[in-house]
Amino acid sequence: MRDNQEKVKGIQMADKQIQLNYKNVMADVIGPEHGISKQQLDRLAKQTAPLIPRIRDEIVSGNSRYGLLPANAQIAKNVKKLVKKFKPKCENLVVLGIGGSALGNIALQTALNTYTYNLDDKKRKGPRLFVFDNVDPAQFGSFLDYVTPRLRHTVFNVISKSGQTAETASQFMVVQKMLETRFGREKLKDRIVATTDSQKGTLRKIATVAGLSTLEVPEGVGGRFSVLSAVGLFSAAMCGINIDQLLAGARDMHTRVVNPDFSKNPAAVNAAIQYHYYNHGKMISVMMPYSYALYGLADWFRQLWAESLGKKFALDGSEVFAGATPVKALGTTDQHSQVQLYREGPNDKVFTLIEVQNHGKKLKIPAPPKSAPELNYLAKKDMGELLNAEKKATEYALCASKRPCMTILFPKVDAYAVGQFIFLYEATTSFAGALLGINTYDQPAVELGKQATFALMGKSGDYKQGESYADFAKEIRSRTEFDEEYII
Ligand code: PA5
Repeated sequence: MRDNQEKVKGIQMADKQIQLNYKNVMADVIGPEHGISKQQLDRLAKQTAPLIPRIRDEIVSGNSRYGLLPANAQIAKNVKKLVKKFKPKCENLVVLGIGGSALGNIALQTALNTYTYNLDDKKRKGPRLFVFDNVDPAQFGSFLDYVTPRLRHTVFNVISKSGQTAETASQFMVVQKMLETRFGREKLKDRIVATTDSQKGTLRKIATVAGLSTLEVPEGVGGRFSVLSAVGLFSAAMCGINIDQLLAGARDMHTRVVNPDFSKNPAAVNAAIQYHYYNHGKMISVMMPYSYALYGLADWFRQLWAESLGKKFALDGSEVFAGATPVKALGTTDQHSQVQLYREGPNDKVFTLIEVQNHGKKLKIPAPPKSAPELNYLAKKDMGELLNAEKKATEYALCASKRPCMTILFPKVDAYAVGQFIFLYEATTSFAGALLGINTYDQPAVELGKQATFALMGKSGDYKQGESYADFAKEIRSRTEFDEEYII
């Protein structure tokens, strides 16, 4: 795993590499019924290794070009140029986007800035960050009440590849009107950065007419694979995150995930194990970081895995209804919520625990009150030691119940490690899609809901040939209206 080393500022990056530990999926540990035997692993290696050159080429071409992002210096350059322009007067940065246009931004911020970042007016290295990925009027409305008196020092980053997405479009329309009323139309360009398709689409059109500063959602990169483009990098850089280190980490992982030696390729091994369990009745994949900072990445992973692998058809056109269900959990919080089910419920899950060696902060637990000597075992211990002990305890308990689990080990949570993690899971998803024989990069099933929303919101014209949105809306209403017969 440590073959491909990149030197960044003289540091041997191998010491900073994240690692995949899959010992506890092996039959030697959890038994032959639920574990993977050495022979099975050999078979998985034979099946997966030939895919490595295919994935190496796939991720830098066609509509899956996310592999080009980490080495594209121009993207970071464009981002930094706009950061220089907008950061000095910006106290609040508001991201408007959804799905792949929001989850990566949230994940980077949660991972790489402190929990109290938005509250820390003195220490913060950038504006407060707010990401809105919903059209909940109570949530967004209360935020608008907060931000209205602060508009002079607020920048909005609207992110939408298509510009058609109803959630982002409606948020944007509200914000645009508010800014226009307050500062005038010609001043929109001082307060909005639009991240969108380089040539086409509704948001590109709006941005051009209004003369907005823009960044690109790169051609051939789907939303959920776009966090290492301007989509994720602008808000990160505005908030003081080291995007160069993030991209360096992704480049380091890029070299690891194209390693033709299966046993040294963490994405190929990871995907092969997930694929094995998917075919052996474990159709749920749980990701459980033992670090609050990494919880947003588990949420980002949930979209990546679900939207990429949940497919009705295989590439050959046959019906497969593929895709394991991704679940996010948080250690230790969910030990007191989910682990009862994880250990004694159906053995239908594969677990990925995330462990952090150095949490970056020491927090010593003091001695307990004299009345509670039974708590002495905690005295003078570091809270990080307790968190990591709980991770190992859960791992042990899962193994005792013959539940397969892997660990991703972070030396520490920094931009370099997070960049590696992002690229590892993007590549793992590509390998898993190839093993399943599906198209990893489309999302046809999301479309019907989008079109149905357009119809219900009164869009004019035809929804498909010979059927108007108005007729479509009638059909939807007939299905979704409440029926007295079934109301209690
Ligand atoms: O991963 C994806 O492709 C989706 O989650 C999109 O990012 C999401 O639907 C938003 O689309 P758009 O950027 O066009 O507004």
